[in-house]
Amino acid sequence: QDHLLGIEHLHPVEITTILDLAQDYVGLNRSAEKHGRALEGMTQINMFFENSTRTQASFELAGKRLGADVMNMAMAHSSLKKGETLIDTALTLNAMHPDLLVVRHGNSGAVDLLAQKVNCAVLNAGDGKHEHPTQALLDALTIRRAKGRLHRLTVAICGDIAHSRVARSNLILLGKMENRVRLVGPGTLMPKGVEDFGVEVFDDMKAGLEGADVVMMLRLQRERMDGGFVPSEREYFHRFGLDAEKLAYAKPDAIVMHPGPMNRGVEIDGAIADDINRSVIQEQVEMGVAVRMAAMDLLAQNLRRRRERDRLRSI
Ligand code: CP
Repeated sequence: QDHLLGIEHLHPVEITTILDLAQDYVGLNRSAEKHGRALEGMTQINMFFENSTRTQASFELAGKRLGADVMNMAMAHSSLKKGETLIDTALTLNAMHPDLLVVRHGNSGAVDLLAQKVNCAVLNAGDGKHEHPTQALLDALTIRRAKGRLHRLTVAICGDIAHSRVARSNLILLGKMENRVRLVGPGTLMPKGVEDFGVEVFDDMKAGLEGADVVMMLRLQRERMDGGFVPSEREYFHRFGLDAEKLAYAKPDAIVMHPGPMNRGVEIDGAIADDINRSVIQEQVEMGVAVRMAAMDLLAQNLRRRRERDRLRSI
């Protein structure tokens, strides 16, 4: 692959390759050394047009730990404010010869469009409601480590599915790896036609969580609700918030996940989020660095091979 734009473009073998390399990087990150050389000589530019804590910090750490020169563009202070377009901004940065461009944007498809205009590897750090591929990969690695496998599991993804790129990337990845995916949430927050992805849909936590190996909670993405249906937090927590009573419907050893940012007392009870016997939320954050190291390492290898091929052709 030239870019990492979405899980939809990845073959199960490629997913496994990324996860296997990320597993090696978990060991490196936990060692005193922490640093490798896979991105030495490479320039990585992070362009975040939307807020981020986890994704931006972990991409920055991942690049630095592998030896890249990393620049975080302060998009709020860029010339976009003076009317420059996304594409002109990308072309301007492209002229500075970056090797890796990490992009988060509020519009679905914006990162794909940008990837067509530049001659470096582009990684999608989340585009609108479309995809968040590195989140799904880090979730997959967390599940594989906790459950010992990434197939034939029952995974319940609960909450605001309609506005979630995390849900979309996860359901595609988990389906490709032959898991049973259930989507649980109010009908008003369920995308139309989602059953076409081979998932089961529930509007009741008891039925949706029964026998689940993994319970993945999502926040209400109010910023994408466009003035449509916004449930009251109290009512929402009562019906769909994960507490001890609802978690008891899942398997006794079911793990609890959340991509963050979390709204305690809305989609998840703080006590469940902090329960180290059930919650793997902090491990998800740790896996984020390792997965992003692996994704950039593999893309950099492809980029070097492509450039060498082009150089030989030009002789
Ligand atoms: N999960 C996730 O994308 O978190 P951030 O918005 O903090 O990057």
